[in-house]
Parts: sequence; C-alpha cells; structure tokens
Amino acid sequence: MALPANFLDELRARLPIATVIGKSVKLSRSGRERKGCCPFHGEKTPSFYVYDDHFHCFGCGEHGDVISFVMKSSGASFMEAVEDLAGQAGLEVPKQSPQAAQAEARRSSLSEVLEAACKEYQLWLWGQEGRAALAYLRGRGLSDDTIRRFQLGFSGEGRGQLATALRGQNIKPDQLIEAGLMKQGERGPTDMYFGRVMFPIRDRRGALISFGGRIMGDGQPKYVNGPETALFSKRRSLYGLNLAREAVRKGAVLIVVEGYMDVIALAQAGFGGAVAPLGTALTEEHLEEIWRLSPAPVLCFDGDAAGQRAALKTAELALTQLTPDKTLKLLRLPAKDDPDSLIKRAGRAGFEAELGKAQPLSAVLFDMLKAGQDLATPEGRTRFRQRLLGAANTIPDKFLAEEYRNALKEAFFAATRRAPAPRFQPGGFGKGGRFAPPPPPVKIPPRSAPDAEAANARRARLMLAILLAHPALLPEFEEPFSNIALPAEDEPFREALHAYVLSGKTLDTESLLTHLRKLGLAARAAELAALAKTELSLIKGASPAEAGRSWWSLYELMDFSIDSLRRQRDEAQAFWLAHPEDQSASDRFIRYVQLLDRARTGAAGVEEI
Ligand code: UTP
Ligand code: MN
Repeated sequence: MALPANFLDELRARLPIATVIGKSVKLSRSGRERKGCCPFHGEKTPSFYVYDDHFHCFGCGEHGDVISFVMKSSGASFMEAVEDLAGQAGLEVPKQSPQAAQAEARRSSLSEVLEAACKEYQLWLWGQEGRAALAYLRGRGLSDDTIRRFQLGFSGEGRGQLATALRGQNIKPDQLIEAGLMKQGERGPTDMYFGRVMFPIRDRRGALISFGGRIMGDGQPKYVNGPETALFSKRRSLYGLNLAREAVRKGAVLIVVEGYMDVIALAQAGFGGAVAPLGTALTEEHLEEIWRLSPAPVLCFDGDAAGQRAALKTAELALTQLTPDKTLKLLRLPAKDDPDSLIKRAGRAGFEAELGKAQPLSAVLFDMLKAGQDLATPEGRTRFRQRLLGAANTIPDKFLAEEYRNALKEAFFAATRRAPAPRFQPGGFGKGGRFAPPPPPVKIPPRSAPDAEAANARRARLMLAILLAHPALLPEFEEPFSNIALPAEDEPFREALHAYVLSGKTLDTESLLTHLRKLGLAARAAELAALAKTELSLIKGASPAEAGRSWWSLYELMDFSIDSLRRQRDEAQAFWLAHPEDQSASDRFIRYVQLLDRARTGAAGVEEI
C-alpha cells in the first residue's frame, strides 16, 4: 500500500527519533547530538550517534531514519514499522482506497479459506486415511513434532473431498479455485492435489498463501506447487520464511536451500534459518527479501550439475544487486547430496562442517565463471575475459565493481599466462642477438623524487615504451603491467596490448604496429618510442632480455601505494561529487587526500589502509 508522503512527514515530526531510539538504547548528550552503544553490533564504547532526523553508527556503519531504525531493530517490514510508529504517535494510518480495501479483504478471506483447508489436511494426515502419508513423512526422518510444527498434512484422495469437507463452513468451490486449491475442469471444479502430502506455504508474517504437495514415493510430478493467485506469487515467496525470520533474529544463520524437505530437515537438525524458493530459481525479489534479514546469507546448492548451474545463475543475478552490505556466501554440497540427505547421512555435525566451508561470492566467482570456458584458444580466452569483465561491470556499486574487476583480472592472468617468450630471440626494432653490444645502463628516475606521482607516471610511460619496442615480452610482462596506473592519455594501450596478445598473432613489431594503427594508436606509439629513446639509451638496440631487465628495475621502483591511493582518491572524489549530501562519501575522500599526502612525504602507515 502506498502511503501519502505528508503522512510520513507528520509521523516523523510527531516522533522525535531520539525518543524512539531512547526506548531501547541508553543515550547521552554529546554536543547537539546524542550517542549510545550501537544496538546493531556489540560495543562497549558508544559510537552510535542520533541526530535530528537520522542515526549513524561510526562503528558498524548502520544508519537510517526512525522508520528504518524500527525495521532494523525488530525485523519489521516497512508497513509494520509505520503501523507500530503510528500507534505510538497516536496517528491513524490513512485508509486505503475502496478498491484497495476490497482487494485486501478478498485476500484475507482467501487466506481464511486456505487455513480451513490446512486444518482439514492435518486432520486427514493424523487420521485413518492419512496412515500411508504419515508413514511416508516419518520414513523420511521427520519427528511428529516437526510434522506438527510445519503443519504438514494429507490432501485426501481427491474427487471433491476438500470441497465437501469445507461446505459446512460455507466455503464454495469458486473460492477454492481462487485460493488455488481446485482448478476449473471440463466437468466442473476438480482438485488440485490428490494423494499428496501437503506443505502449507506462509508469507513472511505467517499468513497462509498456498500449498505444495509431494507425491509419496516416485512418480511425476514430484511436487505440485499452488498456482499464482491474489495471495501467492512464486517470484516473491520463500518456503519457511516466517519461521526462519524468527530464528535469524535469534542468531541463526540464514541458509537458502532448494527444496521443502531441505528446509524442514535443517530446522529439525537445529538450523532454523533455512528457506527455499518454490520450484523457481532465486529471483531479485527473493534476494531482496533475504537481504532484509541478513547481509551475507549462505546459498546452498546441491552437488549436481543442475545445482552448479543454479548457483552460477544466482550469483550472476546477485551481482546486479550487490553492495558492501548485501552479499552472499556460497556452499556447494558434496556430489549427490542435498541438505536433507546430508543431514540423514552425517547428522547435524556433518552439516555444520559443510556450513563452515561456505565461501564468499568474491572467492568463488572466478571458478564459477570459468566452468565450461575454453582457455586453450585466443578466441576462447577473449570471450572468457569479456565474461569476467562483464560480470564485474554489472555490480552497481562503483567501488565494489572495481574490487571485483581487479580480483577477476588477477585470477585471469594467473590462469591464462602464456609461457614467456624465449629471451634471446632477436626482436624489437633492432637485431639484438648474439653480437649486439651490451646496452648502456638505463637512466632511472630516483625513488625519492620530490613528486612521487610524476615520477611514477614517467616510469609507467617508459615501461609501456619498452613493451611497445619488444612485443615478444608481452606475455611475461602483461600481469605486472596491469598493476601499473598509466597516464590517462596512454591508458588505451592497456586494452590494445591485451587484445593483441590474445589475438594469437606472432608477437613482433610489424604485427604490433598493424594492430595499433587500426586502433589509431600508432602515432602515439611513435611518440613514446622517441620519448623512451631520450630516457633509456639504445632501447631499440637492446635485446629482449636486456629490455626485460630494465623493465623489472623500473617496476621495482614503482610506488604502488601511491598509485592505488591516487586511483582510490579519484574515485572517492567522483563518488562524493555525485553524492554531495553523503557525509561518509566526503569523509572517505578526505581520508584518501590525507593518506596520499602522508605517502608523498614518506610518512609510515600507508600500508595499513
Ligand atoms: P528436488 O527434485 O531437488 O527435490 O526439488 P527435493 O527437494 O530433494 O525433494 P525430495 O527430497 O525428493 O522430497 C527441489 C525443489 O524443486 C521444486 C520443489 O520446490 C522442490 O522442493 N520442485 C521439484 C517442483 O516444484 N516440482 C517438481 O516436480 C520437483
Ligand atoms: Mn531431497
């Protein structure tokens, strides 16, 4: 339900945030603000500040307004928080439109229909006709307690049995159709489920929204899930969410699994935080839902190929929603296992041990993307590299995307590095070879240059020039080269050289020049060569081995902390300019400026960032 903005303003105006937070957090004055110990992470010295209209914790970064405080501290939804606060403020939440109110009433009457069916299904399970169904559930290792807690039932044998049973409660077949319990057949309404054990599906607040039904034993389809209805949307619903929400709030790990039985088996083994989608892959809405409960839920995938495909698909989707506070861990179970079978086989401790192996998305993404890729050909490697970059580029957070790009790039070089070219092959513009005179020593800018940044840029340019003069060195030097920030005008060479290496052409001056000419970079390459000639004597005449040695000595002198600091400072600045109201953005920018200053003057501590 959409709320008028002026209502929310009124609500915030009537309830000073300090009053609301002060009910659960001991606050003391600190200048204009109040502060206390943060309720969102354990701390002994206060770093949680409450301002006029928002709170911010300098310890854990949690921040928001009065409504998000209630949501975060009690796990409430937006509307629940608003209703709670409106109650405290003595305000009435505005009435919905008549149509909206009608729709809501219909939904709640549908939910009542489902509740009536749920009671019936349970009666049948525990009665005479449910004997086989109950035996099936017990045979799958569920205790009677668990069966009751999850309100499992038995559908009966069909032929209008449910409609007959509910007629006494004045529930009509039309309502059963609307609730997804019957469907319209050629000869009138027929049952959706027959001869199945029934799993009631509830929404986050515990309202009944649908059922799933499993056949006992083998047979197709194994599970029938309720159809989409006014109440039930598979895209949004997660089995077990209402129970998991409670458990997670009490400290359980949020675990996303594939099936009904996994959720139940995990809960029975003491892992109360399990949820499962309902016969669909995880959707954006599912991810949003689970991130409301936990910043890094564990996604658990079966060990089979389908599980791996599902994991990749989900990881790719998650990237498009990733932030520093919303990430995933991935857990791949041993082959042929799902959580249910694993617990049966290895018990609680067995699953606990697996859970400990869950890996952050960042750590497994490369391997997931690599599966099935052809790294043996230049075309395959190029496609793979595009795939990696493409994946990182879908992350909306700029800083995070940069981190992922770097990590994936490093892994790519490690996995695709070509054997270095033979050192003493004649190459470059001259004919090095056996009879070439030894090159004079390279003049290298000293490390303690007054302007370390300028010195770095100069070295970077020289290193680029060496590679342009000796393309045969590229396979060996590409990786260290990727760590070096090039002056902006020369940055296009990085991509150009990489594409050139991957093209599979013989790496010599002629083919390189052709390649650069096509990209419009030939003129600049000539300039760089001239520049290098004045700084590095006889670069053209040097053998590749000698050029390589010069390259490494320049590399050793590069000041990486300054380089990476500078990059980060520039990004922080851009981000701050785009978000001028964001205090943490300006803080971050200032911090980088200071660190950069310190690094320039040679002060210690740069490594600690
Ligand atoms: P699985 O086939 O992995 O089954 O389906 P499972 O969860 O291990 O079930 P058991 O242990 O054999 O009882 C995983 C999930 O996919 C959906 C269901 O939500 C199921 O829990 N599914 C599966 C269907 O919707 N329809 C099907 O026919 C099969
Ligand atoms: Mn299973």
